[in-house]
Amino acid sequence: MVIVSGIQPSGNLHLGNYFGAVQQFIQFTEGGHECYYFLANYHALTSLRDGSRLKDLTRSTAADYLALGLDPARCAIYLQSDMPEVCELQWILTTVTPMGLLERCHAYKDKLQQGIPSDHGLFAYPVLMAADILIVRANRVPVGQDQKQHIEVTRDIAGYFNNMYGDLFIIPDAFIPDSVAIVPGRDGRKMSKSYNNTIELFAKETDVRQQIYSIVTDSATVAEPKDPDKSMLYAILKLFCNAEEQEYWRDRFRSGGLGYREVKQAIFDRYMQKFGPARAKREELEKQPEYVDEILKRGVEQAKKIALPLVKQAREAVGIPNH
Ligand code: TRP
Repeated sequence: MVIVSGIQPSGNLHLGNYFGAVQQFIQFTEGGHECYYFLANYHALTSLRDGSRLKDLTRSTAADYLALGLDPARCAIYLQSDMPEVCELQWILTTVTPMGLLERCHAYKDKLQQGIPSDHGLFAYPVLMAADILIVRANRVPVGQDQKQHIEVTRDIAGYFNNMYGDLFIIPDAFIPDSVAIVPGRDGRKMSKSYNNTIELFAKETDVRQQIYSIVTDSATVAEPKDPDKSMLYAILKLFCNAEEQEYWRDRFRSGGLGYREVKQAIFDRYMQKFGPARAKREELEKQPEYVDEILKRGVEQAKKIALPLVKQAREAVGIPNH
């Protein structure tokens, strides 16, 4: 399979990003698929209007992903903007995209509702996504539930183009991890930066501890038996446990005598065990910006091998000269 996914360079990665996305990215890579993962910095322009901050965030998010174990020897990691041809393909795609298709997009409508001023970038966002996906001939796109509709839009756009100009694009499928991967935040809502309820992956140790210890609990006493399925603490601890360990904790919850402090400490220990190596590697990478740049350079070269011939074919199909 050919896999592609875009990562918004938003910084401050958290457990939700890891279990909901990064883990899948790594699994696809290890499964021997042809994988393209890019930092969606053109997309980020629609929400971040501070040039130097965007530049820093893009590089640091790339380093975060490398630290977490995305293996650059087995997948292409690149900056969206290092392949500006994607914008040309986007333009070609916009000419076959009905307005109504974009007007129906929830992400766009939600932003309007929140009072975020509407601009053309926000409106055209899904068409650029379509270009990202179609340009590397991907057939699977691992994304969160919130991006599902955008993948459907991609499929529609590819279909319109193919009908009009002949089969050029592969119609991709979304890959959405099952409900296990929904990570609750510290307040029980979905973990999300916009809710300010995250447990961060690369925050200072004291901050991580503070975030874990502030997971909301009820006022049950230590002695009381507790229902693990109603506990946010259990939902988070579970992410770090295999089946046997899950059973152990379920029993402990049910039989009483388990205090929330002990569970929080267990989450902290597990967190450190799991992410300790990535956190150390992240610090190393901080000192080697040229190494990260080199990875990104190699990544885009690899992606261009597929993408540039495709853009050429798209031009030919619509009648834009290639000389
Ligand atoms: N919009 C996606 C998000 O916010 C990021 C993204 C951009 C993307 N281009 C993509 C994801 C292409 C998958 C494929 O998460």
